[in-house]
Amino acid sequence: MIFDEAFNILIEQLKHSFSETRAPGLETPRYTPEIAQILWLADESACPSVQSIPPHSSIRIISNRFDVTQAAQSTELSATFSDFDFSEIPSNSIHKILYRLSKEKSVIHHIINEAFRLLSPRGELWVSGLKNEGAKTIIAKTANLFGNGHAEKYRSAYLGQFRKDTPLPLGEFLDTQNYLSLRLEKSSGMSFYSKPGLFGWNKIDKGSNYLLENIPLFLSHFKTPPNSLLDLGCGYGYLTIGTRDIPLGKRAATDNNAAAILAMKKNAEFYGINVCVIADDCAASLSNTFDMILCNPPFHQGFDINSMLTERFLYTTKRLLSPQGGALFVVNSFIGIEAVATSHFLHIATLANNGSFKLIMLSNRK
Ligand SMILES: C[S@@+](CC[C@H](N)C(=O)[O-])C[C@H]1O[C@@H](n2cnc3c(N)ncnc32)[C@H](O)[C@@H]1O
Repeated sequence: MIFDEAFNILIEQLKHSFSETRAPGLETPRYTPEIAQILWLADESACPSVQSIPPHSSIRIISNRFDVTQAAQSTELSATFSDFDFSEIPSNSIHKILYRLSKEKSVIHHIINEAFRLLSPRGELWVSGLKNEGAKTIIAKTANLFGNGHAEKYRSAYLGQFRKDTPLPLGEFLDTQNYLSLRLEKSSGMSFYSKPGLFGWNKIDKGSNYLLENIPLFLSHFKTPPNSLLDLGCGYGYLTIGTRDIPLGKRAATDNNAAAILAMKKNAEFYGINVCVIADDCAASLSNTFDMILCNPPFHQGFDINSMLTERFLYTTKRLLSPQGGALFVVNSFIGIEAVATSHFLHIATLANNGSFKLIMLSNRK
């Protein structure tokens, strides 16, 4: 299990607060109804640590990642998949909110503002983050909003604990850039709906752009024209939008991220593309096969590749590719995806390489 100091602090603090409320002689903590609501907000940093959260009926997890939601549910925690949209939760109704800070500013600000609204009088917000992620600054801004709280250092991480002492915040709400709304962006002549909270939300990825430029070349390798497409890890749907003019009988797009699913659906509607959009972890629930799978995988982090995710994306592609089908992956030129692909595909070829990105064509055609 990957150890995340910041996540771990929250778990330890929660366990500690449980033991404080444990009545003598009782095996499990006893809660009075007014402290029965604990909300844990978890993004991608929570996988797989979410499984260490003590399962308890008072804890509800909300995650914007499908894999985190599933991992939480597998330990009998109550978990909901959402782009941190809390509009259905009444104000002043939550006793405690725990949040391991995300990387993106607008989602952090959105969650902190909403936490203030959701907390009941004297309810508490606990946040944690690593020193090198700017956690101390966020904690200072949160203290300003709540009018109390400060950063406590635990090795490489900070913990901030805040109490809602007043019905209105003492400081200004943080700037969320209207986090929840989809907005129409325009980049390199393409219009698309997107929002903060998803990969490269307001730009076109250079690798994906390279992939689209080479679609005609890719199609020339098919003996019969493909009739179906899977956009694997679709984001806001750039690859689906860019291939909308190819006549196909069936299109599907899938992603792990709640914001991506919202944006993909909106773009399908905006462009009038008939596409089945599925929230999933690595397309695990899909069983129909596709003639064409396009993918800009999420695993090129720095100079390393996340080999487990690579393996899963490649395995999924093998499983969902029709016998006559072909897949096209774009990766940074230095990534040795081919070595992992050999155990899944008969044919692995470089369709193009511009020095920054390469396009790898995969198939099991006989
Ligand atoms: C490099 S982005 C590509 C996005 C989009 N296809 C494009 O070309 O702009 C990788 C995408 O994979 C998604 N992703 C990450 N982990 C995933 C998983 N386990 N299952 C499905 N999608 C995942 C991310 O949310 C992200 O949208």
